[in-house]
Amino acid sequence: MRFSVSKTGPGQAAGDLVVFPVFRKKDKADLGPLRKLAGDGHGGLQKIIDSAGFTATAEKTFPVHCPGTSAGWYLLVGMGPADEVGLQTLRNCAGVAAKEARKMKSARVLLAVPAAKSINFDDTTFARCWAEGSGMALSPIGELKTAKKKPQLPGRLTFLADAKRHRGLRAGIVEAEANLAGCFFARELVNAPPNILTPANMATRARAMARREGLRCKVLLPAELEKFKMGGLLGVGQGSANPPRLIVLEHKAPSGAKAPKIALVGKGITFDTGGISLKPGAGMDLMKSDMGGAAAVLGAALIAARRKLDVNLTVIVPAAENMPDGKAVKPADVITMASGKTVEVLNTDAEGRLVLADALWYAGRGKPDFIIDAATLTGACVVALGHHFAGLMGNSGLVIDAIRQAGGETFERVWHLPLVDEHKDEVKGTWSDLKNLGRGREGGALSAAAFLAAFVDDETPWAHVDIAGTAYTDSAKPTCPKGATGFGARLLARAVEILGG
Ligand code: BES
Ligand code: MN
Ligand code: ZN
Repeated sequence: MRFSVSKTGPGQAAGDLVVFPVFRKKDKADLGPLRKLAGDGHGGLQKIIDSAGFTATAEKTFPVHCPGTSAGWYLLVGMGPADEVGLQTLRNCAGVAAKEARKMKSARVLLAVPAAKSINFDDTTFARCWAEGSGMALSPIGELKTAKKKPQLPGRLTFLADAKRHRGLRAGIVEAEANLAGCFFARELVNAPPNILTPANMATRARAMARREGLRCKVLLPAELEKFKMGGLLGVGQGSANPPRLIVLEHKAPSGAKAPKIALVGKGITFDTGGISLKPGAGMDLMKSDMGGAAAVLGAALIAARRKLDVNLTVIVPAAENMPDGKAVKPADVITMASGKTVEVLNTDAEGRLVLADALWYAGRGKPDFIIDAATLTGACVVALGHHFAGLMGNSGLVIDAIRQAGGETFERVWHLPLVDEHKDEVKGTWSDLKNLGRGREGGALSAAAFLAAFVDDETPWAHVDIAGTAYTDSAKPTCPKGATGFGARLLARAVEILGG
């Protein structure tokens, strides 16, 4: 969807549909300026919507035919009481309106931007959230359906407001366009089927994106992984016909080398069968989303590049496919990681921490000021937090707080979980330095994080985001069709921006 601004009045502007955010006042829809615009001096429209029971509850819509206006149709969108409108209310209402517009086959949608005094936010924030919500609701899916492609509806959304507000609105649109591009890139990767999105294919897509966005890109092939002795990444990949890759992207800060150095690491298991510790068949298809962390960090890199964030950002993706095979790693195998530490593989389904360990070690070589990793790491995290919050663990209050703030703003919500020495004890090995299994399901998200911590320098501020429950959704949301959510791209880009100062 494309976005623009115009000062033309809602009655005259060219388009198929005018969307009107309507607030609730004293349990009724408050038509405000719309009363005059709809030629409703006598209160007829108010009577109609009142008797139809439209009380401007958030996310409820009401279409009104308005002959004599150039668009012909108005779509009232309930916003709830004005003082209760939050950032996500804007996104959700925008998303609902965009989907309604699509149903009404509207190609060009106009938005009557509410008066500045009736919204709780500046125009930039308003436009950013409205554009994000509209775009995210309709992310293009179905590229593998063979039916003839139809143009995406609506194709354009124009914000109607006084000329003096255009600067602010445009700034929000520019931010939203970057965020949408990152979110869509992430969704597309996660939605892609695993026979197409192999480790090599993910590297190819990352490289193409990097070229488009002006990022540096390096892809390490198995021979180079051998040189680094990356026993974790190679071990997990050794049962697959699709060999692993380590994908590295770099974004250079506009201000140069003195800007903070941040590393993002994302789990890139393109399919997780569990390996020899094979998963049950039912629902295994969901494991195509096991590269959700990779998608999140690659999406964040895209956003950082577009928005020219003033940080030196390195994004690292260990990509592999976890398969059972005669050559596959098996329970009781002891492998040696790039850091030199030895790990007993007690369960080949706890593969994420093995590939991340080598990638975190690689991140540490660059002496970053901060490291954040994102991973669909544990079913235990889904049991603990469900699907609306990602788990957040780490060794640094500063990084944790930045991610929590970013979560509040982007509505990619996180919940801080504990990570202490007792959790680290749970992954100490019997025959080796570490084992890849803690107490199984008990506190499984925490022992997994404790395992990762063994591959991060204690002095480096680091946080881990477990997105196992949030990367994929089996039901559509106001701002997300079912399937990949793109969770993490906006969150991590914003956290990086906050940490960058
Ligand atoms: N990729 C899974 C975790 C996962 C589960 C992601 C559900 C998304 C939804 C991970 O590799 C895994 O299998 N973890 C095991 C760890 C266990 C063997 C210690 C788990 O959670 O069962
Ligand atoms: Mn697994
Ligand atoms: Zn996995």
